[in-house]
Amino acid sequence: MDLTQTFAKRLLHWHGVDGRQGLPWQNNQDPYAVWVSEIMLQQTQVATVLERYPRFMKRFPTVKKLSGAHIDEVLAEWAGLGYYSRARNLHACAQQVMEQYSGVFPSDPLLLAGLKGIGRSTAGAIAAFAFQVRAPILDANVKRILARLFCIDGGLQDKAVNERLWSLANDLLPSKPQDMPVYTQALMDFGATWCTARKPVCLSSAQRCPFAKECQANLSNQVLQFPQKTIKAKPPEFDCDMLLLRHGDHVLLHKRPSKAIWGGLWSLPESAWVVKSMTTKISNLTLQDIFQRTLPDEQIGALLRLCQSPQLGESIKHIFTHRRLWIQIWHVQVKKAHTFASNDLKWVPLKKLGQYGLPQPIKLLLQGLSLARDDDSEN
Ligand code: ADE
Repeated sequence: MDLTQTFAKRLLHWHGVDGRQGLPWQNNQDPYAVWVSEIMLQQTQVATVLERYPRFMKRFPTVKKLSGAHIDEVLAEWAGLGYYSRARNLHACAQQVMEQYSGVFPSDPLLLAGLKGIGRSTAGAIAAFAFQVRAPILDANVKRILARLFCIDGGLQDKAVNERLWSLANDLLPSKPQDMPVYTQALMDFGATWCTARKPVCLSSAQRCPFAKECQANLSNQVLQFPQKTIKAKPPEFDCDMLLLRHGDHVLLHKRPSKAIWGGLWSLPESAWVVKSMTTKISNLTLQDIFQRTLPDEQIGALLRLCQSPQLGESIKHIFTHRRLWIQIWHVQVKKAHTFASNDLKWVPLKKLGQYGLPQPIKLLLQGLSLARDDDSEN
């Protein structure tokens, strides 16, 4: 029989036996709870979300509470989860739901996809989980499943390929709306645990895929060839310097502009990024060089006289999705207090660092230096 007629039924059966059960965001029809879990799960591993999701929901239990929070609180709660635009969008979206929909999430996936940070697939997931709407999802796992089942030619970046996949995702939906929550979870679970990128179960002798007899890629022995790869350019690499300025038990933090990488988080003052060159890096910058690279000009003169010589510190490599950054830390001690005339530069007591949303590598660095602790957020 045509796979489109039986796919949903067989996937639902598979989920009953081999799907993931008992995740805290499952069996929850509250659209707010569903939305938060879907955003958190987008680029974060399930194991991490299991730990962080209940904490987030406790801190911001309703869309109203989230919309009324200060963005710094939201970013601090998100710290360590990465991809901070998700947290900024979450906050903006909560305000949009309050203003445009009086605090009630719409059930129409088209309206959901009009909200900040909600793409077409996430809109489908929320509509399916919270409202039992027959809306398809198409995340990277689902694209892989469909590309294999139907041997779809072309890279996943291709617009026409995507339209074809959306159309297939739609054709495969169960006919009964009440099956949508379990079906959608099943599709996610099947991609994440069985039809995986590198070790799909059809290639192991232990378990048998329920679609082995219809999957075009399996039948033609080409499972690992689908989805077809688009050749990616090597990510560019950059160098930057960061200033770790300390005065007594305080450290100087800089609030990053909201549009930048790590936007809105507090970090160490940082130089402009330069494309990593082949030449060796200078490892004996003067204090003036370092300040000129990392601080606004008007702050430098007075500060120079108050500081000891810089010490070359840690060298940190940080990998982003599309670029790599090599960070050189410079340690500088200030002998006397200095007040900065900028709201973006702030002396923060070491024991209060836990209250600030810090980029993960900076948090780890400061923890490594015993300057920040995970458990000091109540101090
Ligand atoms: N990734 C995105 N949404 C998910 C969900 N509901 N369960 C597991 N992984 C997911």
